[in-house]
Amino acid sequence: ISSFWNDERIALYESAMEKVIVEIKQYDQDYYRKTQNHLVRFVEKRLKTTDSIAQKVERKKKPEGKTLEEMINDLAGVRVICFDTKQIYMLARMIGKSSQFEIIKVKDYVRKPKDNGYQSYHIILGIDGIKVELQIRTILMDAWSSLDSILVYKKTDPISEEMKANIQRFAKWGRKMDKMVTRMMKQKLEKCNCD
Ligand code: GTP
Ligand code: MG
Repeated sequence: ISSFWNDERIALYESAMEKVIVEIKQYDQDYYRKTQNHLVRFVEKRLKTTDSIAQKVERKKKPEGKTLEEMINDLAGVRVICFDTKQIYMLARMIGKSSQFEIIKVKDYVRKPKDNGYQSYHIILGIDGIKVELQIRTILMDAWSSLDSILVYKKTDPISEEMKANIQRFAKWGRKMDKMVTRMMKQKLEKCNCD
């Protein structure tokens, strides 16, 4: 595993992530030209660290005959933060229509949040034989998820019931605020008289 990320492989995965990012920035520009509003707040990307690859292999109990690349979908990850829930589906639709990408798998944790409250729209994309995990979420979903990942997620020490309950409550408020954001965005777009 320690030799997994050689220069050649890094270049291949970086270029696949770059293609996703360029495409998304193009959608954002087109949308901005039409509406004077952005679709995307910001974009992040990362390659999975070898430590994290090792942990996942341990968790999944690597089946014989499967390569790391076959087994792990998120060796390359791109995260797109948009402003409201509607924009998540706009982006997902545009990605789905693009002939550049193969859609390998979709998980909609936006309409169906996880029990802990996690929300995000996940698409496993295939680009020239390389898989990229694309996560699309709102700024509020991202705020929740960032806090969850330092407070709870993948932490090995036990988590108190109080902490679990608070995290769920925080998610519930987040969903309420996201509904409010959607309404405000709608008002703003109506005023702009575009589209
Ligand atoms: P992994 O093997 O952990 O990648 O999960 P999976 O293959 O079942 O995929 P899933 O779509 O459920 O999750 C993929 C990614 O979403 C994770 O690697 C995290 O980045 C993110 N994620 C999923 N669940 C949570 C969560 O409860 N909290 C946070 N903060 N992030 C999550
Ligand atoms: Mg992951």
